[in-house]
Amino acid sequence: MKLSVSGRATATAVVAAATLLATGSIAGAAPAPEPVAIAAAPDIPVTAVKAHLTQLQSIATANGGNRAHGRTGYRASLDYVKAKLDAAGFTTTIQQFTASGRVGYNLIADWPGGDTNQVVMAGSHLDSVSSGAGINDNGTGSAAVLEAALTVARTGYQPTKHLRFAWWGAEELGLVGSRYYVNSLSLANRARISGYLNFDMIGSPNPGYFVYDDDPAIEKTFKDYFAGIGVATEIETEGDGRSDHAPFKSAGVPVGGLFTGASRAKTAAQVTKWGGTAGQAFDRCYHSSCDTTANVNDTALNRNADALAHAVWTLSQ
Ligand code: TRP
Ligand code: ZN
Repeated sequence: MKLSVSGRATATAVVAAATLLATGSIAGAAPAPEPVAIAAAPDIPVTAVKAHLTQLQSIATANGGNRAHGRTGYRASLDYVKAKLDAAGFTTTIQQFTASGRVGYNLIADWPGGDTNQVVMAGSHLDSVSSGAGINDNGTGSAAVLEAALTVARTGYQPTKHLRFAWWGAEELGLVGSRYYVNSLSLANRARISGYLNFDMIGSPNPGYFVYDDDPAIEKTFKDYFAGIGVATEIETEGDGRSDHAPFKSAGVPVGGLFTGASRAKTAAQVTKWGGTAGQAFDRCYHSSCDTTANVNDTALNRNADALAHAVWTLSQ
């Protein structure tokens, strides 16, 4: 029997074959088990990701120009993301903590269903620095994780594993929100997380394509995606442990992620691979007031959002 890539017909046919085998009505040796069909990730529309960035920019503009921890722009960003997820059918939780004398929040969104003993998580920090709107750092990761989650809902995806998405507070104060989340998990609940995928700066204007060199299976999943679209990648070396995957990694959770570069300069060899400008930072507006919606490379954002979805879909079934 030919397996199609997805769809009910395949599942029904597999069940029918299994029933035949169980009832013993096929003579002779049992054939090798059929491979289970893997549903391919849908394309994540970059226009939808960019629409979220426009909203985050408006939120910053209306709140003193930033979305920083403890400021009104942070809470407004969280409320924007939460409303979208609630409307799509996610179970959302706000986790509150205190950092530098101000209240901060993480947002956790669970997609109902799947094996909660095997949780696949994808997350990004939602806070900016106080000097700007933080659209590449890290509106891009936040918007791509949001749109991937909304795509799960839109397509009615029902993976074997349980999906959980997260938006962290106070990353810019030293990974405070993500560390608080990991520390608040029981050992049993930590062990249930089969992987954490981190997205921090995935639309740098002079982009590189960097994959975290952490869990080998997660790393391979991302590299396979980029190989499939003919884009070279390099191992992320600019800031090992400088984002929200670090607390998970320290707790023994397999981690991975994507990054398009911050203040480090792109080399001539990297320009040969990826185009762009040699001797210029991957993101000249890193932690500055010019980190606005103008500070995003759409091609990089599109590729990374699709790679994110590829990993979420592939690792959850
Ligand atoms: N986490 C840093 C920030 O938000 C940015 C950063 C620097 C980074 N190096 C990195 C993120 C490497 C991921 C990987 O300011
Ligand atoms: Zn960041």
